[in-house]
Amino acid sequence: MSRQLFVTTALPYANGKFHIGHIMEYIQADIWVRFQRMQGNQVNFVGADDAHGAPIMIAAEKAGVTPQQFVANIAAGRKEYLDGFHISFDNWSSTDSPENHELARQIYRDLKANDLIDVKTIEQFFDPEKNMFLPDRYIKGTCPKCGTKDQYGDNCENCGAVYAPTDLINPYSALSGATPVLKNSEHFFFKLSDPRCVEFLQEWTQDGKLVPEVANKVKEWFSVRTNPDGSKSEGLGDWDISRDAPYFGIEIPDAPGKYFYVWLDAPVGYLASLKNLLEKRGESFEAYMAQPRLEQHHFIGKDIVTFHTLFWPAMLKFSGRKTPDKIHVHGFLTVNNGEKMSKSRGTGLDPLKYLSLGMNPEWLRYYLAAKLNAKNEDIAFNADDFMARVNSDLIGKYINIASRAAKFVSTLGNGKLNFNYGEDVPEIFEQSISEDVPSVVAYEGKVAFHAEINAMTPPNISNELSSEVRSLLEAREYSKAVRTIMDLTDQVNKYFDASAPWTLAKLGNTMRALAVASHCIELFRQLTIAMAPILPATASAAQKFLNCTDLSWNSLAAPLKSGHSLNGYEHLMQRVTPEQLDALFEAPASPEPERLIPAGEALAPLITIDDFAKIDLRIAKIVNCEPVEGSVKLLRLTLDVGEGKTRNVFSGIASAYKPEDLIGKHTVMVANLAPRKMKFGISEGMVLAASHGDEKAQSGIYVLEPSPGALPGMRVK
Ligand code: MSP
Ligand code: ZN
Repeated sequence: MSRQLFVTTALPYANGKFHIGHIMEYIQADIWVRFQRMQGNQVNFVGADDAHGAPIMIAAEKAGVTPQQFVANIAAGRKEYLDGFHISFDNWSSTDSPENHELARQIYRDLKANDLIDVKTIEQFFDPEKNMFLPDRYIKGTCPKCGTKDQYGDNCENCGAVYAPTDLINPYSALSGATPVLKNSEHFFFKLSDPRCVEFLQEWTQDGKLVPEVANKVKEWFSVRTNPDGSKSEGLGDWDISRDAPYFGIEIPDAPGKYFYVWLDAPVGYLASLKNLLEKRGESFEAYMAQPRLEQHHFIGKDIVTFHTLFWPAMLKFSGRKTPDKIHVHGFLTVNNGEKMSKSRGTGLDPLKYLSLGMNPEWLRYYLAAKLNAKNEDIAFNADDFMARVNSDLIGKYINIASRAAKFVSTLGNGKLNFNYGEDVPEIFEQSISEDVPSVVAYEGKVAFHAEINAMTPPNISNELSSEVRSLLEAREYSKAVRTIMDLTDQVNKYFDASAPWTLAKLGNTMRALAVASHCIELFRQLTIAMAPILPATASAAQKFLNCTDLSWNSLAAPLKSGHSLNGYEHLMQRVTPEQLDALFEAPASPEPERLIPAGEALAPLITIDDFAKIDLRIAKIVNCEPVEGSVKLLRLTLDVGEGKTRNVFSGIASAYKPEDLIGKHTVMVANLAPRKMKFGISEGMVLAASHGDEKAQSGIYVLEPSPGALPGMRVK
């Protein structure tokens, strides 16, 4: 009977674009999901944006947009990455969806009915200017241990001390600079310390849902332990699940002005995205979740294990819901190019830049698979290693089988496979090599021995693929699976080399040469099935070449037959070049946008195309330009905007241009700006120029100039 699998990856914060660490997590989960689907299992694979929380609210405010708009902008960029790396999510939603609001509130009500919600008054720092309670990371001050200034509210980056924000010396709000005041507030707590929760979690975390490395780590959290600062922690404590307004989140039922802490509703987003998917399909979420055989799998990174092994399962269990079956924890990806790489290479690996350079997403999928295992160890991206594995292993060993064998099948078999070896290679063959055939066609001299060729049989790899590789993929031991597959490709290549079909063909034994090539094509087909979860696009191109209808895991045991026709072979994969890797890691042309934007102005609020259309921009010719007496900043421009008369415009660009530099140039002006009376006369428009948001940056002013050919009066839009 096929399995019913509900699979998720962690929901990324919607405060920024995907980075390569996110992509790694999605690739890991996607390989597993595709592998399950190939076995005929039913999978719903969902993701969503984690939309809530103070950082997103504050970022949106800075950008001058609503948090909803901010999150929608981020969400709009997701598809490009997911499609680009062949991530096969069935749905992508948001934790700010109606489904999530409803589910989170319902789960909370169920926990409350089960007497697991407490209300306690706590004392917290409050920003009197911003009128809000401050999250720890928005309180700064002097470290109480070492005296370093400007440290965060939870720990010191200089001496590593861990403390409460109230321990800081001279605390200040990182949002307004104001001195925060202590204020009481009622907070809601999930009673994780309740004996029911403790007992349940002790069992749940130790019964095989986690790999031993993770389970052992989690075990420590149940016992009394010593913190880095010497204080003692008492095992599981109650969990503060509320935040005060203003907060971007879900309002707590019957508690106006109180919101769920983002981590309360974030994992509920897994269920909300699934519900959203099923309802779009006209299926029932409740019926789906009620299936006894349903398995729930979460792929996450090692930094968010507490949330997924304590809070989340307890929330589900004690609200009367199904708990997860497996939490698959991975380590972090670091980008480390080793010493041999050029100095100009930066440290980041921008996923979109990777794609825009035309680099094959399956190289990265293969490379990461070759490094990932079931443990939560960190893995390092190394460019030399990447090139070696892609070019020597993936292409040199696997793709190579098809490209070599295809030639023989098309020329000797007219595109049709034939597995029949025919007659043994005769004794005379040994002589004919030395007499009629130039020795260069012999493979390392070995084919001279007819007995050896007659004894050559194709390796049997299907057993190892269907049992060992299968269980390695199931267990997320991808690196071992890839190593096993590569060992099998070695066996296939060895068979091909030692059988030397090119020599056989030269000697007229075309039947045997065709049989060798046919066997290699069949072995390539089997290898392709095992590789398909990692290389979905290559597998479907290979399927087309192989002309077979089925690439399911079961079809491993259904070999191609003599007489089967192949389609023409087109190269399945290009090699990665050092130039591509150089370009990938080349530092962006300076000044780096990342450094410029925070130092300049935040983006203005969004406008519609109709808003933009209100601004009439025209090409203007600067027919005259002169200094303005009494002003160091202004130049007086006389502009021809194709109106049969000129306009007078004052522009604050005197620090950057001499009048004679501008005369005769074309530029862009706002032509429908209401005329403005200035001390020196009337200004009839505005000339466009670029500058840094902060004038003190002294990085200059740059008047816009159209490409040659633009004429006065042309509209710019
Ligand atoms: N929003 C929370 C998760 C909520 S799940 C209900 C969050 N978001 S995140 O964007 O910071 O991280 C999302 C996932 O990416 C996490 O699983 C995290 O471990 C993973 N990674 C972030 N950086 C990573 C690497 N450098 N390498 C691999 N994965 C990393 O946490
Ligand atoms: Zn310190």
